[in-house]
This record gives sequence, C-alpha cells and structure tokens, in this order.
Amino acid sequence: MLCLHLLRIREQSGSFLKKSRRIIKEKYLPTEYSIREASVDDIEDIYEIELESFKNPWIFDKYVNEFRIPYSQISVAESGGRIVGFSLVWFVNDEVHLNKIAVRYRHRRNRIASSLIDHIIQIAKDAGSRVIYLEVRERNKEARAFYRKLGFTENGIRKKYYPDDNAILIEKMIE
Ligand SMILES: CC(C)(COP(=O)(O)OP(=O)(O)OC[C@H]1O[C@@H](n2cnc3c(N)ncnc32)[C@H](O)[C@@H]1OP(=O)(O)O)[C@@H](O)C(=O)NCCC(=O)NCCS
Repeated sequence: MLCLHLLRIREQSGSFLKKSRRIIKEKYLPTEYSIREASVDDIEDIYEIELESFKNPWIFDKYVNEFRIPYSQISVAESGGRIVGFSLVWFVNDEVHLNKIAVRYRHRRNRIASSLIDHIIQIAKDAGSRVIYLEVRERNKEARAFYRKLGFTENGIRKKYYPDDNAILIEKMIE
C-alpha cells in the first residue's frame, strides 16, 4: 500500500516537472529574430522544419539541389542562434513562385513568416518582379488565413493537385 502511494507521488511529481519545464520553455522562448539568406550549413535545420510542417515533405536531396539552382532563393529566420523558419522561392522572369514557407511550431504567431514574406517582396521589388504566387492545400485553413492577412488573394482552384487535396491558387501583385 505504502509502495503504491510512493509510486503515485513519484508519477505526479514527474508530470509536474515536465509541465513546469514546458511552461518555462514557452515563457522564455526568444522572440527576437533576424532574416538572412540561407547557406548550405543551414540545410539540416531547414529540413527539420520541413518534416515538422508538411504532410508530404520533400526528400532531403531536393533541398541539396535547390542550393545549386541559380533562380532558387532560400531565406531563413534565426532566433537565439537557431533557425526557426525558412522560405524558398523561385524567381522566373518577372514572377516569384513561393514554393515553401514554414516556421517551427513553437515559434508560430510571432510574425516570423510575415517577415520572411516582407523580405522576399523587398528582393522581388529590387529584381523588378511583378507578382508573387503560390499554391496552397484547400484544407490548409491556417496558411490561407495567413496569406489573406498579408493581402494575398485567392484566384483559382486546381482540382486534385495534391494526391489528397485540391490546390487554391493565390497571388499578390508587387507594387
Ligand atoms: C502558415 C505559417 C507559415 C505562418 O507562420 P507564422 O510565423 O506563424 O505567421 P505570422 O505570425 O507571420 O502570422 C501573421 C498573421 O497571419 C494569420 N495567421 C497565421 N497563422 C494563423 C493560424 N494558424 N490561424 C489563423 N490565422 C493565422 C494571423 O492573422 C497572423 O497575425 P496575428 O498572429 O497577429 O493574428 C505557419 O503556420 C506554418 O509554418 N505552417 C505550416 C507550413 C505551411 O502550411 N506553410 C504554408 C504552405 S503554402
């Protein structure tokens, strides 16, 4: 009986400790971040975020290859010495295709993705691009809300673009 009681106390204090650690981590998560161009050294962090964020992630080698494509541009958000978000765009003629944008789950809603988009738009302006466009899963309500908030417009649908979902076509003119 005493053993059982001691076991319960141990279990309870274990889960209390876990909960406290989580609260401390969340409370002291760094909110400062900076945006810069990615280097090949960032690839493992980028891929970690890819795996955490997308249902059908790209294979690792696809990222390795992106660093060799001259019209591909990868930017990262860094916070407390850690990569917390990234974007991957292609500059083709006067258009920018947003292929990927993702932020580590625990760092979301800190305007990190918004800053990555601002950064892309600034580069796009300098390059004389006219429009930024992308496809998003119809069921990805969070991303759709994000693009809406940033002034992107939904202007089409591509049925069964993904094996399990339609794609919504989204764009924003660069002024
Ligand atoms: C979509 C995503 C990149 C947004 O990143 P983020 O850094 O959290 O976005 P921001 O903090 O810049 O959000 C800016 C605004 O967009 C809207 N928004 C962002 N995430 C939202 C969500 N989950 N639900 C509703 N609105 C959301 C809000 O209006 C938000 O402003 P607020 O926090 O002041 O309300 C992030 O949720 C993510 O990595 N998702 C998984 C990958 C993905 O789906 N990428 C897009 C594929 S096309």
